Amino acid sequence: MPKRVALIAMVVPLLWVLAGNTEGADGNAKGSGRIEKMDFGKTPDGTPVEMYVLKNGKMTAKVITYGGIITELHVPDAKGKTTDIVLGFDHLEGYLAGHPYFGAAVGRVANRVAKGKFTLDGKEYTLAVNNGPNSLHGGLKGFDKVVWKAEEVSSPSGPALKLSYVSRDGEEGYPGNVTATITYTVTADDELRIDYTATTDQATPINLTNHSYFNLGGPASGNILRHELFLTADKYTPADDTLIPTGEIKPVQGTPFDFTSSTQIGARFAQLKGEPIGYDLNYVLPAAGKEPALAARVHDPESGRILEVLTTEPGIQFYSGNFLDGTLKGKGGVVYQKHQGFCLEAQHFPDSIHHPNFPSTILKPGETYTQTTIYRFLAR
Ligand code: GLA
Repeated sequence: MPKRVALIAMVVPLLWVLAGNTEGADGNAKGSGRIEKMDFGKTPDGTPVEMYVLKNGKMTAKVITYGGIITELHVPDAKGKTTDIVLGFDHLEGYLAGHPYFGAAVGRVANRVAKGKFTLDGKEYTLAVNNGPNSLHGGLKGFDKVVWKAEEVSSPSGPALKLSYVSRDGEEGYPGNVTATITYTVTADDELRIDYTATTDQATPINLTNHSYFNLGGPASGNILRHELFLTADKYTPADDTLIPTGEIKPVQGTPFDFTSSTQIGARFAQLKGEPIGYDLNYVLPAAGKEPALAARVHDPESGRILEVLTTEPGIQFYSGNFLDGTLKGKGGVVYQKHQGFCLEAQHFPDSIHHPNFPSTILKPGETYTQTTIYRFLAR
């Protein structure tokens, strides 16, 4: 090879690597990853909605500015085959038409507030009652139905998208102007990390979470009843038949709610009460704190995929997709039947505002609410 050609042949790949463009043999970017933006339609009032594609290694997450929704999450199985493992829709119209919080950011207050009423600093507040006699997931137009402002941010861990939203005083009946941010990062270790912050100018309850429905075989693979679940929680908050906690904190031991050793999700359905059958319950995590700690691990023996959920939150709602009923047609025309996906919603306990013995959800002026939840993927 002539000398000059040999030099170019050496230098060009070096510059390519220095520019962060390290393509693996499988064609996937390794290391710092990348982020792309595209149009995802408009809301009925003409507000444009964007989709951001975050890629790192073999993992891809797609997030839209409407509802902060994670629309797709592609992760490898035991053979390295990548599949989208969350429920959702191909187009914005599916989300606008109404759905049970597929992939959505939930707030101001995730889960239930009994009877849609609470008193704070001597003043009574009334919320929309949208779930039996209670208020659920932030009301009629919660954080899952607003358009968030997006900003690509630099993170040493991987491509990151920061969404922000200002919720005005009185919105959905809640007090205070609240500024919320959610940062989604796809790391080189097959993790989707979600960091939340919120500040307020008046005391107000805050409880933010993500409502992704996972099916580790891919939503077209059927239901999740043979997925095996492990939860670090050895206690739960018993609830009445409208899913409002009684206030007790009870051990799971000896109940069909005990997942402290890995157990198939569907194995003990015959022992559960209520209709539609399944789990929809808040667990008390042993290790709430500043650093995200392991809360749950789910293994799908067929694909080999494993999801680990790590969080700073004190609770996690395990919901086995009981209300999916075959009426929604999702991505690729797949009809979502009962138990076709499960949610693990890291959160403060439901109806905390009415239970002084539960960790407080009240955010005061001058304080910053933070929560971090990591969805980590492995395969074996
Ligand atoms: C949460 C609730 C469930 C259900 C779903 C949405 O997980 O706990 O009862 O309302 O949201 O359908």
